[in-house]
Amino acid sequence: MFLTHLECTNCGTRHEWTTLQNLCTKCQKPLFPVYDLEAVGRVLKKEDLATREKSLWRYREVLPLPPDVEPVSLGEGGTPLLRTQRFGKAAGLTNLWVKDEAQNPTQSFKARGMTTAVSMAKHLGATKLAVPSAGNAGGALAAYAARAGMEAHIFMPSDTPRANVIECRELGAHVVLIDGLITDCGAEIAKRKTAEGWFDMSTLKEPYRVEGKKTLGYELAEQMDWTLPDVILYPTGGGTGLIGMWKAFDEMEALGWIGPARPRMFSVQASGCAPIVRAFEAGERFAAEFPNAHTLASGLRVPKAVGDFIMLDILRASGGGGITVADEEMIGATREVGGAEGLFVAPEGAACFVALRKLVSAGKIAAADRVVIFNTGSGIKYLDCYDAS
Ligand SMILES: Cc1ncc(COP(=O)(O)O)c(C=O)c1O
Ligand SMILES: [Zn+2]
Repeated sequence: MFLTHLECTNCGTRHEWTTLQNLCTKCQKPLFPVYDLEAVGRVLKKEDLATREKSLWRYREVLPLPPDVEPVSLGEGGTPLLRTQRFGKAAGLTNLWVKDEAQNPTQSFKARGMTTAVSMAKHLGATKLAVPSAGNAGGALAAYAARAGMEAHIFMPSDTPRANVIECRELGAHVVLIDGLITDCGAEIAKRKTAEGWFDMSTLKEPYRVEGKKTLGYELAEQMDWTLPDVILYPTGGGTGLIGMWKAFDEMEALGWIGPARPRMFSVQASGCAPIVRAFEAGERFAAEFPNAHTLASGLRVPKAVGDFIMLDILRASGGGGITVADEEMIGATREVGGAEGLFVAPEGAACFVALRKLVSAGKIAAADRVVIFNTGSGIKYLDCYDAS
């Protein structure tokens, strides 16, 4: 295995990967896995990937887990990068793609993070896993925990879409509905986890969900023939995908697979919950908790994220930014995208299509820019948001 250790994203303190870890023990910020990329480069050439399995475990050398240990997998990753047929042209763009993450197990990109995190938690001896979830992460944990023969304890706000709640229960998880936000769910787990013997799988509060999510970046480069787009639009809650992709870009540059150019990264958030956009605009490095957070795009209802400073650094370093979208705009765009492209996108994905048009109007995206939108989930999980008419 090429994983050497874990390193704090804030203070740089080194932690061992061989024991279960959550946040940095010194400063309580997220830990990043670090690999011996020189050694990876000696055994893996990007051309070798062409003949491998489609699952994200094709990038095994830059993922955690010893090579003789079988991953807990349901066939995640390897999703299509679809060139839009009509929406891009209508928005004045010549090159618009959608990375369709609805085609993962449990219909969202949360499967990517859970395959690596559950695999490592199992390998390191955890037996009971707990997670606060806006919905899709809960479904993914329930599935991977079941696959691994482990217990899943899922804490969700009581107004989480019904499909997510039912999915978790039918996958054998213990579900607790909390009258509050995802941050309240996280606090409840923090309070009970020691007595209950749960390992906390909150995003970026354990080191390996980001590793699965970073494969979004590897896949994008591979699918674009080892180039990156000019612009990425990412619907942002906890920000793990955005952070993971940026990490992947740095790793691929160190491997000599891509050059130093980076996409302009844009965080798309809901008008009713936009802590990152607000902090970006205010020039702050940390984002204050967003008051009275509300949006029906449940994945974006994250008023406070532990990786806020990592995201804000990335948005600034990339020359991108943040943009908000109202709930009515997301719902309106769902049918537009559906009719134009044949994709029933999640409201979080729909938000990116609205954001695209706003950024084109504002002159922040040019007609010739190569743009990638992440549709992070499926509309089928959000039937409560749509009028039956
Ligand atoms: C469909 C969907 N999109 C986006 C997000 C936000 O993801 P992240 O936490 O990586 O920012 C979520 C999180 O729950 C989600 O379910
Ligand atoms: Zn630290």
